[in-house]
Amino acid sequence: MKPTKKVFVTGGAGYIGSHTALSLLEAGYDVVVLDNLCNASQEALHRVEQLAGRALTFIEGDIRDRACLDKLFREHDIHAVIHFAGLKAVGESVSAPLAYYDTNVNGSITLCQAMLQAGVFRLVFSSSATVYGPEAPIPYIESMPRGATSNPYGASKSIVEQVLDDLVRSDERWSIAMLRYFNPIGAHSSGMIGEDPQGTPNNLMPYIAQVAVGRRSTLTVFGNDYATADGTCVRDYLHVMDLAEGHVSALDRLTLPGSHIYNLGTGQGLSVLQMIEAFERVSERQIPYQFASRREGDLAAFWADPSKAEKELGWQALRGLDEMIADTWRWQRQNPNGYRTEINTTSQGTS
Ligand code: NAD
Ligand code: UD1
Repeated sequence: MKPTKKVFVTGGAGYIGSHTALSLLEAGYDVVVLDNLCNASQEALHRVEQLAGRALTFIEGDIRDRACLDKLFREHDIHAVIHFAGLKAVGESVSAPLAYYDTNVNGSITLCQAMLQAGVFRLVFSSSATVYGPEAPIPYIESMPRGATSNPYGASKSIVEQVLDDLVRSDERWSIAMLRYFNPIGAHSSGMIGEDPQGTPNNLMPYIAQVAVGRRSTLTVFGNDYATADGTCVRDYLHVMDLAEGHVSALDRLTLPGSHIYNLGTGQGLSVLQMIEAFERVSERQIPYQFASRREGDLAAFWADPSKAEKELGWQALRGLDEMIADTWRWQRQNPNGYRTEINTTSQGTS
């Protein structure tokens, strides 16, 4: 029998990380999660274990803590690392740039240093469509150069991509996939795990879901004067489980040396008003909304050309809009306050 491969998932208690941890367990990998829980709850991992029917290893720790990483690599025979840990609120990154560069850039460098010392050279990095910058023509294609970034969050992703490019050039043992996510939404179909933003949600779908469940009264739509069909911004929304499965597909690609960039999106753009209409239809709830001025830094429209991921990874976003919304709604309805007010279901697995 082949030995089980162990994947180290940084930030694995968070939104995308927890769904990916589940996909990894289901694909037969063992999983070690490191998370400092600054934007997550360990309850998410308990539920991942319940859904998978087996345990993972959880270590509460910080990605910038080199000694913690070295110990983890000594104690576990790691096949590959999937690196989600980071800060992701664009507005906050403008007011707290040092925190963003420290966690996102310094954290990634510390991780790579520890990997180098441990002799682990397979890495999947969470990048973002934001690195294409405001001037890129749509759809975005991986061969386009990285563009200007308008905020420290975007800059931190771009800088880490550059660091990783330089790293693979310096040493041919590295094999790195940089996955540029478009707009992940949705939740696992069980409704047991999902997105649980702390405080006021910055992103559209969690905001809509909180209006639908009665936690917030009205959605503010930022701008209705864009050069799009209905005047509101257009984005490429993809199901978080499709995104999670994209990471499992990317792991298989890590036999090839070098750095490999993939867009993970559907290739289809939808406007804010289309998202509201679809949510109202699927949930049978009214979403009261009002228009306000544009949000600084927003682009009118972008979506992915996902054909490279399809060709090279054999990956495609399979779940449609109604499924994304039905799954978001199930999660929000079952967990109106996210992970916080739920009775903690105990699990023996996490350590
Ligand atoms: P998230 O906040 O839910 O997950 C990030 C996780 O990292 C959290 O669990 C948090 O507690 C943890 N973390 C933060 N700082 C840490 C530190 N110093 N040490 C250890 N753990 C730490 O966010 P997410 O939506 O799951 O995003 C995951 C990754 O994907 C991030 O790197 C994010 O920038 C990137 N990304 C997300 C989106 C999106 O729309 N959600 C889009 C593009 C890229
Ligand atoms: C945002 C970030 C992006 C980051 C991504 C995931 C900005 C400018 N971009 O993407 O860098 O990678 O989140 O964290 O912040 N909207 C409303 N009302 C709301 C919320 C959003 O109208 O309350 C609109 C926005 O103006 C946008 C669309 O909905 O047009 C999608 O917004 P959002 O979900 O925040 O995603 P992005 O802005 O694409």
